[in-house]
Amino acid sequence: MNKLMAEKPITHHPAIVRPAQKQDGAALHDLIAACPPLDLNSRYAYLLLCHHHAQTSVVAKLDGVLVGAVTAYIPPTQPDTLFIWQVAVASASRGQRLGKRMLDYLFQEMCIPHQLRWIETTISPDNAASHKLFTSFASQHDAGCSITTLFTAENFGESGHEEERLYKIGPLDQRD
Ligand SMILES: CC(C)(COP(=O)(O)OP(=O)(O)OC[C@H]1O[C@@H](n2cnc3c(N)ncnc32)[C@H](O)[C@@H]1OP(=O)(O)O)[C@@H](O)C(=O)NCCC(=O)NCCS
Repeated sequence: MNKLMAEKPITHHPAIVRPAQKQDGAALHDLIAACPPLDLNSRYAYLLLCHHHAQTSVVAKLDGVLVGAVTAYIPPTQPDTLFIWQVAVASASRGQRLGKRMLDYLFQEMCIPHQLRWIETTISPDNAASHKLFTSFASQHDAGCSITTLFTAENFGESGHEEERLYKIGPLDQRD
């Protein structure tokens, strides 16, 4: 258990949302593999995330099975920002506000105590669910949401990867 966020069950949803732990790394890899269009990284990368970035990443577990996760970190040059890398909810658990609840958990347990004023993420142009998840989060917090291109398709080389647009949400009201 990390020191900054206590395990806190969400009573109105069957999944338990809690900070990531090293033991979640392998299952996190498998969840991301089952959630296209997310880019799948190595098992080692997810172990590192659950180790070095456990304080800023959360998982949702239902009956011991990983059904959701948000991986995130504070960029070294932006100490007031939580950068969200990947959000994933297992297909059977979608549409039940689990994605939003994991974002709210990070906001309550990480952004407020650490006075983070901005949340950033990148989204590819055709990911409607992710666009709605983050714009809805911004509206809920009466925060702005600017959208610019962070990585062009050319930045990804010959991979055929779409561009990734940067969503910058904030400033976040610390009184929430
Ligand atoms: C994106 C994803 C995490 C959303 O998870 P979820 O738990 O189903 O989302 P929620 O139930 O919390 O919904 C949050 C908002 O998004 C909307 N939404 C969810 N899925 C949607 C869809 N397919 N199309 C349009 N809107 C959608 C909801 O209506 C809700 O909006 P509201 O707050 O205005 O009512 C999930 O669909 C997923 O894992 N997709 C595959 C991986 C991915 O694309 N991840 C995001 C890129 S980082």
